[in-house]
Amino acid sequence: MRVLIIVFSPAGSTLKIAKQLEERLIAANNQVQLLNVTANSSMFKDGKFRETLEEKVEAHDLICIGSPVYEKHIEWYVKKIFKNLPKPDSKWGALAIPFVTYGGVSSGIALAEAVKMLKKSGRTPIAAMKIEASHIVSKKLTVRVNEGMPGIEALPFVSELADRISEAETNHGQVKDFSKQLNYQNFKEKTVCGIMKESLLHKYKYPAFTVVADKCVKCGKCVEVCPVQRIGTENEVPKMAGKDKMCIHCFSCTGVCPTEAITFEKGEEDWSEIDRILKLVSAEGSLFNSMETPRSAVYPIR
Ligand SMILES: Cc1cc2nc3c(=O)[nH]c(=O)nc-3n(C[C@H](O)[C@H](O)[C@H](O)COP(=O)(O)O)c2cc1C
Repeated sequence: MRVLIIVFSPAGSTLKIAKQLEERLIAANNQVQLLNVTANSSMFKDGKFRETLEEKVEAHDLICIGSPVYEKHIEWYVKKIFKNLPKPDSKWGALAIPFVTYGGVSSGIALAEAVKMLKKSGRTPIAAMKIEASHIVSKKLTVRVNEGMPGIEALPFVSELADRISEAETNHGQVKDFSKQLNYQNFKEKTVCGIMKESLLHKYKYPAFTVVADKCVKCGKCVEVCPVQRIGTENEVPKMAGKDKMCIHCFSCTGVCPTEAITFEKGEEDWSEIDRILKLVSAEGSLFNSMETPRSAVYPIR
């Protein structure tokens, strides 16, 4: 099987899983292309999603697309990748598998929407996978959720997915619809998620990206690292740029800033409220109020 793995991974967890999958697939004699699109400037800065895919992607039978779960959805920019996939043909395979990493709360809507988008692109989703990982928002908080994950505990799931891929036939016939297994969320949760789009939350819930100009040493590291290439400069001082100006609050920029010049507009108050909520719903480093079970899985569950 010729497998293409496309991955977007601001904090590295989804990439880690993609690499584990690549390794297992190669060991089982599959041919693999791993395409990490994180911070790809032609895609995210110039908006050339389709062109970049056309240029970078090699012929394959099956496509795996990996994304983090953001606000219970497939990350907003990754949806653009799904929407820009060319229809299957002699280069673009007809089989597909989405996978996500997430902090342990509500991956169902995200995986179900990935399956739906893949079907819409003319592909047949033959499986899906979710892997519990560290919750990157907790990097900003006093509670560390799932610190150190994913690690070796993810390997059995990745190996199972690699087995299923290796066993799959390129001319897959009828595939059992497993969408219902994925989307276990109740009506209320689905409705709230339908309204509370990730983009709205970035705009209204999370504090905005701000730079303290006096502290900034104009090194450009934040501009380079931004996974969605939304940081530009004005007089060499970083500021949000691009038509939609949307920061995805992954904190890659704060991680590389040598002088802690990047802050968030409304100050620490906002984070303390998010911190308070996460503290309430977490224990021993995991989110105990999550109804999600199992936390990691390969679908359809057999
Ligand atoms: C803005 C934002 C929203 C998130 N929303 C969710 C969520 O709804 N549920 C969840 O379990 N994890 C959520 N997470 C955590 C990420 O899904 C998790 O850390 C993921 O593994 C990150 O993938 P990456 O390391 O490949 O970037 C969120 C993270 C961010 C930054």
